Amino acid sequence: MRGIILSGGSATRLRPCTKVTSKQLLPVYNKPMIYYPLNTLIKADIKEILIIVASECAGDYLNLLGSGHEFGVKFTYEIQDKPKGLAEAFIIGENFIDEENVCMILGDNIFEDDFSKDIKSFKKGGKVFAKKVKDPERFGVVKFNEDKKAVQIEEKPKKWISDYAITGLYIYDNRVVAAAKNVKPSVRGELEITDLHNFYLKKGELAVAMVKGEWLDAGTFDSLLEAQILAKNKLQDKLVI
Ligand code: G1P
Repeated sequence: MRGIILSGGSATRLRPCTKVTSKQLLPVYNKPMIYYPLNTLIKADIKEILIIVASECAGDYLNLLGSGHEFGVKFTYEIQDKPKGLAEAFIIGENFIDEENVCMILGDNIFEDDFSKDIKSFKKGGKVFAKKVKDPERFGVVKFNEDKKAVQIEEKPKKWISDYAITGLYIYDNRVVAAAKNVKPSVRGELEITDLHNFYLKKGELAVAMVKGEWLDAGTFDSLLEAQILAKNKLQDKLVI
């Protein structure tokens, strides 16, 4: 299993803090934000990790994280020139992924759960993780039928379909690289990760598990503040880095 942390974007919602560095390097309590998703991958014994960054901040990432030796892993770096969507990560990462399965986590997603078992036991298809939220219109959303089976997934639906957001942790088999190359840009001009979930959902090969503990996408000042509190109160003893 290869790991990817997607840590690009310009984070205009967090200006002026993100004028000089990347959102995912801002402090979340006592660690840079990216340490939390990195912890999720390292805990699951993933040893080769691709970090995808925006070109302006690449030097900051190298200074902070280096080769990976300090963490017992190997880092590879790639640049995402423009924020062209999450699915692009699998195109940028094609050579890195090689013939392996891949687990991608977003650099601003902070989880209380330990996903080691899900990641280590993964064999085929796709696996994503959902969480009930108050503001589903901000996320990729999954609708379940009466048997709790996922039946529909939509990116930021304008009309309510469900309260379950798909969080920023994705496990896919190697077919994701070819699938990503077939994704067409959405109205917002991005290659949507939701199209990849749907690729597997249509084949009946997408598992959707529930996130039990807290989850935050620390992309706004309010969620960043919540992330700080979560990190201080609940995550300190869960960190291995
Ligand atoms: C992205 C994904 C969305 C997912 C969210 C999780 O949203 O497109 O499906 O629910 O991450 O954080 P974006 O960060 O592009 O708004």
